[in-house]
Amino acid sequence: MTDDASPGSAGEKVPPGVDPNVAHVARIWNYWLGDKDNYEVDRQVGDQILAMLPDVARLVRAHARVLLTSTLEGVTDYIEADLRDPDTILREAARTLDFDQPIALMLMGIVEFITDNDEAYAIVRRLLDAPPSGSYLAFYDGTNVVHREASDRIAQVWNESGNTPVATRTQPFDSLDEVDAFCAVGRKP
Ligand SMILES: C[S@@+](CC[C@H](N)C(=O)[O-])C[C@H]1O[C@@H](n2cnc3c(N)ncnc32)[C@H](O)[C@@H]1O
Repeated sequence: MTDDASPGSAGEKVPPGVDPNVAHVARIWNYWLGDKDNYEVDRQVGDQILAMLPDVARLVRAHARVLLTSTLEGVTDYIEADLRDPDTILREAARTLDFDQPIALMLMGIVEFITDNDEAYAIVRRLLDAPPSGSYLAFYDGTNVVHREASDRIAQVWNESGNTPVATRTQPFDSLDEVDAFCAVGRKP
């Protein structure tokens, strides 16, 4: 593929560090949200997955509608960090957020990319330990306990695409008081 295979209009440059020949989770998500920052390979993997679980399209669009109509005012910041490095995330977040006040932690569709259960639990535990009592957690993980066959197949297609591998967790986060499910909204005691 050449630079012409970039997202959006033909001829746009491929950003450094981006491989337009390998599907990437963020660009597949971008495609599902109806945006333009994705490549053919992302659209192919995205379509393959939608064909197996058509409800995903409806859910993602509902999610996008909420995000795109948000009018909340306030300070925002962007951190480029790996979820596997929660200390950096917390340190950087503290530049904007007041950790003496309750904080809402959202881990939406991201913990599933930490395939090792113990590592995933430890990361969520570390992030939850930092904010004070009264803080909130909104969370969903990847699991196959609801639609076993479709979920296993989707994970297989996804993982074979060269993307960041996903887990299909079979045990909920029962080591955390706040989370006893694959999907939860909770308030820290
Ligand atoms: C399914 S999307 C969900 C995006 C967003 N949380 C939402 O709900 O719309 C997963 C996102 O997690 C990011 N991601 C995957 N593994 C990550 C990691 N180890 N550290 C940081 N981000 C990661 C991907 O780049 C992608 O943008």
